[in-house]
Amino acid sequence: MPAASTRTAYPLADVHRLIEPGPVLLVSTHDGRRANLMTNGFNMPVAHGGLIALIVGPWDHSHAALEATGECVLAIPSVDLAERVVDVGNCSGRDVDKWERFGFTPVPAAEVAAPLVGECFANIECTVADDRLAADHHLWILRAERAWIDPPRRGAGEFHHRGDGTFSANAATLDLRHRMTKWRHLTD
Ligand SMILES: Cc1cc2nc3c(=O)[nH]c(=O)nc-3n(C[C@H](O)[C@H](O)[C@H](O)COP(=O)(O)O)c2cc1C
Repeated sequence: MPAASTRTAYPLADVHRLIEPGPVLLVSTHDGRRANLMTNGFNMPVAHGGLIALIVGPWDHSHAALEATGECVLAIPSVDLAERVVDVGNCSGRDVDKWERFGFTPVPAAEVAAPLVGECFANIECTVADDRLAADHHLWILRAERAWIDPPRRGAGEFHHRGDGTFSANAATLDLRHRMTKWRHLTD
């Protein structure tokens, strides 16, 4: 794990590239009093350029902060953080300061009150763009306002929840850019 931060701005136009692989996320919120973290496996890109769908339900303490502030940070952990990330999703900010307990570092964000997660290789500052399906389906459409990348922290890359407490990590990358003939502009 690199000690010093080499975090730089990541283009908003490319934010879907961070979410499209289906990473397990840490969602950082701030309720006006203190910051919290939760684990999220249900997420997907909705549009190129930074619209992201995220499921956060009222069973999560984080839900109240997201609803009240309309802001959060989506942080993408690499697989070496998997055990701590799962632990974050198995307790509540109602009861515990998860930053301290699991050794995650809050870093001030540029646009939102919720902090970035220092240990994660990518952080996306978001505002709520559409909450029309939040009541019925716990579905929040977020707009990326700023994004950050810290390449050395990417390590072996993001990891994915298989829905049952087992996880897969990224294996070999298949480079099929030469077959993306209709979508050439996405391959630059
Ligand atoms: C691997 C994993 C994936 C999860 N995915 C989601 C999710 O997509 N949406 C959700 O609302 N909760 C999800 N959870 C549950 C929350 O992380 C969990 O309820 C957490 O305790 C909420 O923390 P909070 O009460 O501090 O907000 C997941 C938990 C784990 C371990």
